[in-house]
Amino acid sequence: MRRARKQSSPALSPGTGEFRRALSGWFEKHSRDLPWRRTRDPYAVLVSEVMLQQTQVSAVLPYYNEWLSRFPTLASLARAREPQVLRAWEGLGYYARARNLHRAAKLIVQKFGAELPDDPEKLQSLPGVGPYTANAVTVFAYNHSRPIVEANTARVLARLFDLRHPIDSAAGRKILWEMAAQITPARAPRKFHSALMDLGALVCTARNPSCQICPVKKFCRARKPESLPIKGRRARTTALRESHALITRGDHLLLQKCRTRWRGMWMLPPLWRGQPTDRPIHRSVFSFTNHRITLKIFRERQRKIDRRQQRWFPVGALDSIPLPSPHRRAIATLLNASGAKRSRQPRWLGS
Ligand code: ADE
Repeated sequence: MRRARKQSSPALSPGTGEFRRALSGWFEKHSRDLPWRRTRDPYAVLVSEVMLQQTQVSAVLPYYNEWLSRFPTLASLARAREPQVLRAWEGLGYYARARNLHRAAKLIVQKFGAELPDDPEKLQSLPGVGPYTANAVTVFAYNHSRPIVEANTARVLARLFDLRHPIDSAAGRKILWEMAAQITPARAPRKFHSALMDLGALVCTARNPSCQICPVKKFCRARKPESLPIKGRRARTTALRESHALITRGDHLLLQKCRTRWRGMWMLPPLWRGQPTDRPIHRSVFSFTNHRITLKIFRERQRKIDRRQQRWFPVGALDSIPLPSPHRRAIATLLNASGAKRSRQPRWLGS
């Protein structure tokens, strides 16, 4: 019987010094100009790293500068009210990140005198800050030598070392962190990690990696780079249908406070199960984690409202309150269709 090959983290041959020099030379010519690389402000670095969790660089770019102009310091974020914070995050998704960042800002003001600590252990005591984010802040803000593993670098490391464990398994993650620790230099770790991330984003891409132009090709052990990294089975996508009501009174719209998903935001009131409906006036599809959700909106006459969780909002005020993006888009489409742009008073569909 053949035994599964036991894999530990081997030393990069022929030597990490040569590997680092090759990577660094490439980075000097090809680095990405990203706004969070132009600052050493630990708060700005923390904001960028939290935004970049589970989110592509291109999606974060429009939010990062806007966020820093609204909340330029930790103290200003700590003073902000949650609806403002959620409004600024609106569209980025995974809103627990925004709530945690807000709570973290308050804690940093209370516990650390409004200064972000440079100690990863202390950073990890903050809500929403795990080992990656704590080390990333330490590296990118303070240039302290710490390993980091994120999506791009995990792919690069899995190929360089021909990692045969799924990168989303406990064993795979442990080996990746060991590999990262092994190749992280004591000097200039900020530049090194930026370079490794850019190599993953620009050359060692998930599909069709450009191995022919890779500056560290000779160190790579992957025989079939495009087959790596190995990933465990993905959670299946499930289809959901959700029905909500458009209920208006003059130029006011009835909204309901979200309690579970999108907690702290306002949405169109959901229909109750079995509620009789006409034809929907809007239909759209969006993704939420591993769900694919069909949103249907129905026109409804004014009903008795539940004052504990529902409120009338003037249409003109919607811009300043947090709404889940699929609901904001639906409302905007329906408002446009009703000719609200042309008249000051929205003429709602069918009214
Ligand atoms: N620079 C610093 N952190 C980064 C990240 N998470 N993704 C891309 N570039 C970065």
